[in-house]
Amino acid sequence: MILVNKGYVEAPIEKGIDIVEEIKKLKKQKNAVILAHYYQRGEIQDVADHIGDSLALAQLAAKADADIIVLCGVYFMAETAKILCPHKKVLCPDVSAGCSLADSCPADEFAEFVKAHPGHTVISYVNTTAAVKAYTDVVVTSTNAKQIVDSLPADEKIIFGPDRNLGNYINSVTGRQMELWNGACHVHEQFSIEKIIALKEKYPNAQVLAHPECKKQLLIIADKVGSTQALLNYAVNSDCNEFIVATESGIIHEMKKRCGNKNFIAAPPEDGSCNCNECSYMKLNTLEKLYNCLKYEMPQVEVDADVAQKAIKPINRMLEISKQLGIIK
Ligand code: 13P
Ligand code: SF4
Repeated sequence: MILVNKGYVEAPIEKGIDIVEEIKKLKKQKNAVILAHYYQRGEIQDVADHIGDSLALAQLAAKADADIIVLCGVYFMAETAKILCPHKKVLCPDVSAGCSLADSCPADEFAEFVKAHPGHTVISYVNTTAAVKAYTDVVVTSTNAKQIVDSLPADEKIIFGPDRNLGNYINSVTGRQMELWNGACHVHEQFSIEKIIALKEKYPNAQVLAHPECKKQLLIIADKVGSTQALLNYAVNSDCNEFIVATESGIIHEMKKRCGNKNFIAAPPEDGSCNCNECSYMKLNTLEKLYNCLKYEMPQVEVDADVAQKAIKPINRMLEISKQLGIIK
């Protein structure tokens, strides 16, 4: 009997197989689509049908006509896909792939925060559990947060969770005073400003690209602040040939593919011996786990029907506003 152990299928893999070819075969046989986030391991990005940021993945899931969606990302992304496609089989190679930001916002405490702010519109970053989304009026991602906040009436009172850095950044670029939940991502908060400044001295022509989940002091010195997709687009279209990348280093895989002649330097964390910053949750998915996941169609992602019914409203609202604003097609 095959069991899902520790969040993934632990089954022996046949000796001598070409795992990438086998994944491609299984995908075709089962009419499955593989969606991968830019922070996934390079080999997973390479075998995926589509790669994208969290907004693109939600949109791709909503539009998918495959019977099976394999979401290679962290759990909240797979959960969002399942909420959008309740009748499809949604798989995630390792369902223990959590998110420190989502974990910084327990649903019962968020419910109290909402209760303490009557008359406020509740905006939640997509990096939240379905249970938190169920208390939300509109979900945002880092790609659409500014425009969605801008689209609300100027006098609208807003609470925003869970990322305090993204919330502060949106307040600064929109002039709003949203009340913020005090959460953060362990990867993006770790970047060392001092080491990045030292890198700027070593590579004077390099531009700093930073995700808005990074601390304010870093965003101030960045040449470009944006979502994963926005940073990628910037690197592709810029005349600059050298970048210090202050987001999860998985994005550098696609950056190098799209602009082979440019130099990408992973921004270093404050502490630790490695020179990059990796999301340990994102890296839990491996080719072997993906192969077994497709082969055995496990582990499946399930969302409580009651929670899903509430959570789909703010997710759909995000997709509708993003379409109206021309952010997505
Ligand atoms: P994006 O919305 O840019 O894909 O970011 C998701 C994420 O988890 C950032 O840490
Ligand atoms: Fe969550 Fe941070 Fe990992 Fe993104 S990088 S999935 S916010 S823990």
